Amino acid sequence: MTTDIRDIPEAHVDRALDLAHLAFHAKVGDATRKRQRELLLGCERVGAYEDEEIVGFTAAHRLGLSVPGGELPVAELDFVSVAPTHRRRGVLTGMIGELWRRCAADGRPLACLWASEEAIYGRFGFGPATEAYNVEIDSTRPLDLRITPDRRPLRLLDPAAAVPVIAPLYEASRARRSGRLSRDEAWWRWSVRSDGEDDDDNDNDGPKRVVVLGDKGAPAVGYVTYRVGEKGTVTVGELEAADAPAAAALWSYLASIDLTRKIQAWTVAPDDPLLHFAADRDQVRVTGQWPAMWLRLVDVAQALTARSWAAPVDLVLEVRDATLPANAGRFRLTADPSGAVYEPADGPADLALDVRELASCYLGGTPLRRLVRAGLAEERTPGAARLLDAALETEYLPFTGD
Ligand SMILES: CC(C)(COP(=O)(O)OP(=O)(O)OC[C@H]1O[C@@H](n2cnc3c(N)ncnc32)[C@H](O)[C@@H]1OP(=O)(O)O)[C@@H](O)C(=O)NCCC(=O)NCCS
Repeated sequence: MTTDIRDIPEAHVDRALDLAHLAFHAKVGDATRKRQRELLLGCERVGAYEDEEIVGFTAAHRLGLSVPGGELPVAELDFVSVAPTHRRRGVLTGMIGELWRRCAADGRPLACLWASEEAIYGRFGFGPATEAYNVEIDSTRPLDLRITPDRRPLRLLDPAAAVPVIAPLYEASRARRSGRLSRDEAWWRWSVRSDGEDDDDNDNDGPKRVVVLGDKGAPAVGYVTYRVGEKGTVTVGELEAADAPAAAALWSYLASIDLTRKIQAWTVAPDDPLLHFAADRDQVRVTGQWPAMWLRLVDVAQALTARSWAAPVDLVLEVRDATLPANAGRFRLTADPSGAVYEPADGPADLALDVRELASCYLGGTPLRRLVRAGLAEERTPGAARLLDAALETEYLPFTGD
């Protein structure tokens, strides 16, 4: 039978969701299903059909991704699922090929995703571009800090009213850090639930709480979203703060909540100030580290010339790209803080690397020198990787929480 890759119309969204739940072995309740449906109606949906049966499904959110110096349109893949009866026949490969055609057609130079299994996406040219830490805090005692927390008042906000208060802080963070996704109204409703229901219909954690730091009537200087579980674990959704004292106030607050024993944060930036101002690193422990966002440079030239550059660089790159030939070949990159030019070159290459390694370095999260040492990129001109790293460097490490 042939598989036909085409748009999933609104009328088939429930069938696509059924397939996703089958592929992910997910049992979801009505509230989660309603939210997923709402999310899917607002995004691009690519289906693999065998006759009229959907055997593959990929959603792509049309979002903006913060990159050094600005923002670029990105296809953020979601719900990637193939029927267990149809796996390993190239269904995913076909759907991703279709997404690349769509990205090229409407000028989206980037694609990204959060991988369920790390082994899947490298072959499609994705590289891990941001990293996140899991952090656990022992809150059976007050949080031991080396700095004085901001003393402004804390306020518990009704999640339904919180978005206008906290969104400016999220936006400020996106302007500082690469790797952060834009959020529309539906996404905010998902991140800061307004209906008081559990995020996941199967868990027993309490409802999401939102606490902001700041004087009444003045813009907030920090916020945290969290839930408290039955065993006294405070699970942090996200914490944004204008500066270190504001962050210290929010972490201290979380550690002070009565009848709780532990704080658990799943996504903390590797350069988060908490890891420095915590006085006792036995109390604040990094318990895991993982690639948070896999990035694909769908159009390398557009991606490289759209970001800002920290230092001058003039190098020839030999880029391999097994699936998007327009990216492959030798190109001269001439960049400095005023802009960049990336054009085909004849001369010998200073660096040779696969497009997935270029994606890992693109946001400044992974130094290319590390990949050269790991045997994943080739430095043909001594010192070339160091020069490229200096030009790619960013003040803050890239980070993705969504
Ligand atoms: C992961 C999944 C989407 C792959 O779909 P698929 O149609 O079987 O993938 P393809 O047939 O196009 O595979 C292309 C290549 O990727 C490899 N691949 C696919 N899934 C892989 C996995 N989980 N681990 C390692 N390699 C994988 C295939 O072996 C194949 O390699 P080859 O070209 O060398 O033969 C599918 O198995 C699935 O739905 N899994 C459950 C849900 C899930 O994990 N989704 C991913 C969410 S991020």
